[in-house]
Amino acid sequence: MNAPVSPNVVLEAQHLARHYSLKRGMFAEPATVRALSEASFKLSAGKTLAVVGESGCGKSTLARLVTMIEPPTAGELIIDGKQVHHTEAPSHELRRKVQIVFQDPYGSLNPRQKVGTILEEPLRLNTSLSASERQQKARAMMEKVGLRPEHYDRYPHMFSGGQRQRIAIARALMLNPKILVLDEPVSALDVSIQAQVLNLLMDLQQEFGLAYLFISHDLSVVRHIADEVMVMYLGRPVEFGTADEIFNTPRHPYTRALLSATPTTEPEKRRERIRLTGELPSPLRPPRGCAFHPRCPFAYEPCDVDQPKLLQAPGGNAKVACFAVQGELL
Ligand SMILES: Nc1ncnc2c1ncn2[C@@H]1O[C@H](COP(=O)(O)OP(=O)(O)OP(=O)(O)O)[C@@H](O)[C@H]1O
Ligand code: SF4
Ligand SMILES: [Mg+2]
Repeated sequence: MNAPVSPNVVLEAQHLARHYSLKRGMFAEPATVRALSEASFKLSAGKTLAVVGESGCGKSTLARLVTMIEPPTAGELIIDGKQVHHTEAPSHELRRKVQIVFQDPYGSLNPRQKVGTILEEPLRLNTSLSASERQQKARAMMEKVGLRPEHYDRYPHMFSGGQRQRIAIARALMLNPKILVLDEPVSALDVSIQAQVLNLLMDLQQEFGLAYLFISHDLSVVRHIADEVMVMYLGRPVEFGTADEIFNTPRHPYTRALLSATPTTEPEKRRERIRLTGELPSPLRPPRGCAFHPRCPFAYEPCDVDQPKLLQAPGGNAKVACFAVQGELL
């Protein structure tokens, strides 16, 4: 079924959820891990949505749903105007539109294949191009990602981390996808190399009109690349807004705590710091009410009883799941 689509929107998620059932021995009831709930967003060509939160908050689960590696438990996924069916395997044509780059390029590149072979493989499997046409395309892509012609015959272990990530990005682009899911693409790299890879990603986005779903545990990494930011806590979006709004006027106490943990040169922002205390609760037993309440310095009566919905907050355009913000107490 073709769903109606706004101009340029290439990815739409509506109330996406993924729950896992965990067996707990012969007699115990299986437990449910709610890895992701209520993720809704739209992503347009040429734009970047950053998904940010601590380890285990459901970022990679969202990546697996969007790349159709796993079906959602509930909710809808619409890719380039096509609704993805939960029960049918997605077509090759649909799969080609979404590609993924992982944190560890060494683990995701076959160590026994040369760069040329790695880049040509998606073309060999999915197109009828001749060997020389494949080679021509691979070499052109190498140039675009800043690899030299002599790299064509080298193996992944002969490269630095940053160069290996360039190879992984080149491979992801070989089939002209519309959407690139970047799951912590620079987290394993030195800070100076991170900036180079982020600049490359921004150049490629402009050239190819790519939509990026950029996943990171670190808000400072997404500052310059994100158009919009979705902050997640224990499997749920807690704040969603433009990058300007999230960085300049963060509203949710969790977003503010995450930002407090990133370096700033602005003394005014430093004064408002919120320290994140306490352990991240287990997603098997999320706290009642607002899942953030055991760690929240502003928690009050409703917070350990009811779950706040993600709603547009007064005085801004961002959506925030917090009673104190919605009640204008913060
Ligand atoms: N196949 C699975 N079976 C059971 N639980 C799972 C499965 N995959 C993920 N989970 C759980 O779902 C939650 C979310 O995991 P996910 O990998 O999406 O987090 P993440 O935000 O990517 O974390 P990280 O920053 O560490 O990569 C975690 O509690 C994880 O243990
Ligand atoms: S709903 Fe309550 S506990 Fe949750 S973030 Fe807001 S103030 Fe804190
Ligand atoms: Mg992850």
